[in-house]
Amino acid sequence: MKKSRGKSKSKKKSTKVKKSSKKAVKKVVIKKKSRPIRLKRRTSINPKKRHLRKKQMKLKLPKGRARLSFKVTKPRNKDLILVLDFGSQYTQLIARRIRENKVFSRIVPFNITPEEIKKHNPKGLILSGGPLSVYDDKAPMPDPDIFKMGLPVLGICYGMQAIAHMMGGHVRKSKEREYGRAELFVDRNKDLFANLPTNLTCWMSHSDHVTKLPKGFTVEAHTLNAPLAAIANRSKKVYAIQFHPEVVHTQRGTQILINFACDICGCFPRWTMGRLIDSTIKQIQDKVDKKKVVLGLSGGVDSSVAAAMVSKAVGKQLYCILVDNGLLRKDEAQSVVRNFKDHFKLNLTVVDASQRFLNRLKNVIDPEQKRKIIGEEFVKVFQEAAKKIKGVAFLAQGTLYPDVIESISPLGGPSSTIKSHHNVGGLPKTLKLDLIEPLRELFKDEVRIIGKQLGLSEALVHRQPFPGPGLAIRIIGDVTKERLDILREADARVMEEIKKAGLYQDVWQSFAILLPIKTVGVMGDKRTYENVIAIRCVSSLDGMTADWVPLPAELLGRISGRIINEVEGVNRVVYDISSKPPSTIEWE
Ligand code: XMP
Repeated sequence: MKKSRGKSKSKKKSTKVKKSSKKAVKKVVIKKKSRPIRLKRRTSINPKKRHLRKKQMKLKLPKGRARLSFKVTKPRNKDLILVLDFGSQYTQLIARRIRENKVFSRIVPFNITPEEIKKHNPKGLILSGGPLSVYDDKAPMPDPDIFKMGLPVLGICYGMQAIAHMMGGHVRKSKEREYGRAELFVDRNKDLFANLPTNLTCWMSHSDHVTKLPKGFTVEAHTLNAPLAAIANRSKKVYAIQFHPEVVHTQRGTQILINFACDICGCFPRWTMGRLIDSTIKQIQDKVDKKKVVLGLSGGVDSSVAAAMVSKAVGKQLYCILVDNGLLRKDEAQSVVRNFKDHFKLNLTVVDASQRFLNRLKNVIDPEQKRKIIGEEFVKVFQEAAKKIKGVAFLAQGTLYPDVIESISPLGGPSSTIKSHHNVGGLPKTLKLDLIEPLRELFKDEVRIIGKQLGLSEALVHRQPFPGPGLAIRIIGDVTKERLDILREADARVMEEIKKAGLYQDVWQSFAILLPIKTVGVMGDKRTYENVIAIRCVSSLDGMTADWVPLPAELLGRISGRIINEVEGVNRVVYDISSKPPSTIEWE
């Protein structure tokens, strides 16, 4: 991959730094007039030691030869690409793909101003796709001045149409909508399409397309249906493509994004989780100083990783509170204590508030009502426990990037409807504590990587999602201690068998639901009239859509057999074969 870095343009002197593979031998070639001086030296790869390397280089120069000045570019922690969000369901994927390749990327609203862009200090801008047509009344358009900032811009799908529309091209409705695979013929194998074959499969998802080139643009690639599938204005550094390079169906799509980020924008791919951990820890330390931090630990991935990160930064100044609402799975509270108190030596207080929750949930059967009550009660219990810790100044939370984007997305974002009920347990501003959110720039799988690097167990970082309202929304109808115990036992059998079958990490969620009906059965020679358990096992990428998993009949049989034989009060097991939509993953 080509990397354009720095601007050492002196004609008299040029400095080349070549990296040889294993031992990181750097060959520094210094030319002065016609007399090249070659220095071969071994250096450390650790960028923190670059200043040492520079000193050593100076020291090793032969005396009296030449006074040399060459620039070892300061390591840039975070070369940044901003993605302007026009509402596409794929916007997050663009940021993900770029980050996966070690360049940091952040999503911002489509109408961000040039002044705000400057504050982020990005090296390039990507305009995402979006659901509207540039001719719609409410068509979102970027601020035209962003094109005058001298930053390279890449428009994708709607982003391309917006660019063409604003720069004097024509955008028209296609005769036929184009969804799915298309053969892309690359006309110019440079810049965006460098290091790529001339034929690629790409993924289209549009009904409008550009029919007339804006002035100053050239055609870079075409498909049979889209003669202007990729266009560029090199002098303005504006590029635009009709297809979606961020989806896996586009062959070598990531290479196109990286060509933009690294070759065209000049980003240096050095954003790693290790660096992120170091810099986040430093930021937390600077912010917290000698004060105390409180954190609500649920044992889920997000709060666990946040706890590990903050504890690494401020050690015993972190106080974790686990609210046991009585709606947790079997042995859940104990396992959190084992993981964090015993192993990580965290300050952890477990508040057993199960009776309080049960009292408030008595006779409540409406799912939304349950959620509301559980949310309210959680806040009360947490607040009471937090107040007992004297001198707390900060509240740490495991907020993730998708939640942050959700709240800034001017078009609502594709998952807004699902997320509305998810923040049960969100803590109120009345706590009057400053927030620390060490994961707010990260996607879930990035959080998992960080968790592992911080020493959390594999089992913990790959835990399946568990909803804030817990088992209460998996008990259809009245939530009582007896019914919770039945569900807990049944759920534990599902989990054990799914794990034994090696499927736990392959599926999104697998769990049991307790139904509000009883059915007749026969055990031994006796008639029974007992509860029904439903099993749900779904695959999903993000919880927004999901499909039921056709578990092997043998495995289903084993789960059913174990539940009916081992869990008192259950005489029937059924399997849920509905996908989302139209069903949801949780039953309530
Ligand atoms: P649904 O049931 O909406 O669930 O298809 C999608 C994903 O979200 C989880 N979920 C919740 N998580 N609080 C949460 O923290 C909630 O109230 C909640 N409701 C659903 C669910 O487990 C699935 O992973």
